[in-house]
This record gives sequence, C-alpha cells and structure tokens, in this order.
Amino acid sequence: MSHFRPVALEHASRLINHGPTVLVTSTDGKRRNVMAAAWSMPVEFTPPRIAIVIDKHTFTRELVAKSGTFGICVPTAAAIDFTYAVGSCTGKDVDKFERFAIAPVAGPRLGVPIIERGCAAWMECRLISEPHTEDAYDTCFGEVVAAAADSRVFHNGHWTFDASNSDLHMIHHLGGGNFVRVSGIVAANPR
Ligand SMILES: Cc1cc2nc3c(=O)[nH]c(=O)nc-3n(C[C@H](O)[C@H](O)[C@H](O)COP(=O)(O)O)c2cc1C
Repeated sequence: MSHFRPVALEHASRLINHGPTVLVTSTDGKRRNVMAAAWSMPVEFTPPRIAIVIDKHTFTRELVAKSGTFGICVPTAAAIDFTYAVGSCTGKDVDKFERFAIAPVAGPRLGVPIIERGCAAWMECRLISEPHTEDAYDTCFGEVVAAAADSRVFHNGHWTFDASNSDLHMIHHLGGGNFVRVSGIVAANPR
C-alpha cells in the first residue's frame, strides 16, 4: 500500500522549498530593516541573479523599492531565535537591529546592512526592475554584486559541513517555527 497522501496546495511549496532560510536586509539611508525569508533561489549563472519572495505588504519591500538594493544574509543554527523573531514582527515602527541587539556593518559595494555574527554568508544585491511583475507578484529579482562566506564552512566554492562546525550550519524552515539544520555531507559515488 502506498504511503503517499494528498497535500493541500497551500502546503505544496513546503515539499520543495526547505532550502536555507535567509535574512533580507534593507535601508533607504534613514531607516534600516531585516526580515526572514524562506523562499529564495538562484535564477541565472552569469551575472549571478537570484529571486526572492518579499511580500508587498512588508516594510522590507518598501525599503527595497526605494533604495533599489538589498542584502541577503544566511543565518546559522546559532541565530535561529533571531531569525524567527525578525520574521515575526515588522520593522515599520521599530528598529529590529536595536531591538534584538544585532549590529550590522555596511556592505562594501552597496552599503546595505550586513550581519556576520550568527551568519555563514552574505550577498549584496541590486534590485532588477521588473515593471510588468512588481505590482502583481511578491517575487523580486536581484543581481549579486558582492558576496562573502565564513571560510570555516565554505571554501574553494564549496560548503564543508561536519560535526566540528555544527553551530555554523544553515537552518531550513519547515513552517510553524520548526527548522532543520543541514548535517553531514553525503558524497555521491561517480559511476
Ligand atoms: C522562517 C520564516 C520565513 C519567512 N519567509 C518569508 C518569505 O519567504 N517571504 C516573505 O515575504 N515573508 C516571509 N516571512 C515573513 C516575514 O519575515 C514577515 O512578514 C516579517 O515580519 C516582515 O518584516 P518587515 O515588515 O519588517 O519587512 C517569513 C517568516 C519566517 C519566520
């Protein structure tokens, strides 16, 4: 007998999208903000471009539209509470960096807020203007113009996860505040 059961379409995204949860950072020069986002993916190789879902009602979306830039920081298991917290409140009336005692630095190319403490990697992105989609969809496209990663878990272009660096493993949201973190690497045998 099959173990498969129907899944409500509202939950279909969870079947494939438990990639690493990220933090989206933004500033318009006066105000700054950070939110959690579980939905993101690369969409182009060269130049590197990504897609990220930023709900039109969020404060983040307002700052990203104004500045034309955003940051992506990849939080680790050490930052799980902060990640969930910044995804559960809006920065419209409060500076979340102050509220949760996280001090960002300015990114080297675009000056977007970058968080290194508790994160394994970051990217600075320039928003790609898509007038025919931006009113209709929550999806935003960005070109990556700068990136860095913690060399204890990423070097020579590859992640290296093992038990010795488990605090630096990324977290993947399953919904409802439950995450899994990546664990040991399983290498495929070339045939
Ligand atoms: C783990 C997690 C993942 C989330 N993923 C997304 C996402 O992919 N896209 C999105 O628009 N909102 C997502 N959210 C919700 C936003 O983070 C939330 O609406 C946030 O309060 C917006 O903050 P802001 O108004 O300060 O920008 C997520 C929340 C959590 C906790």
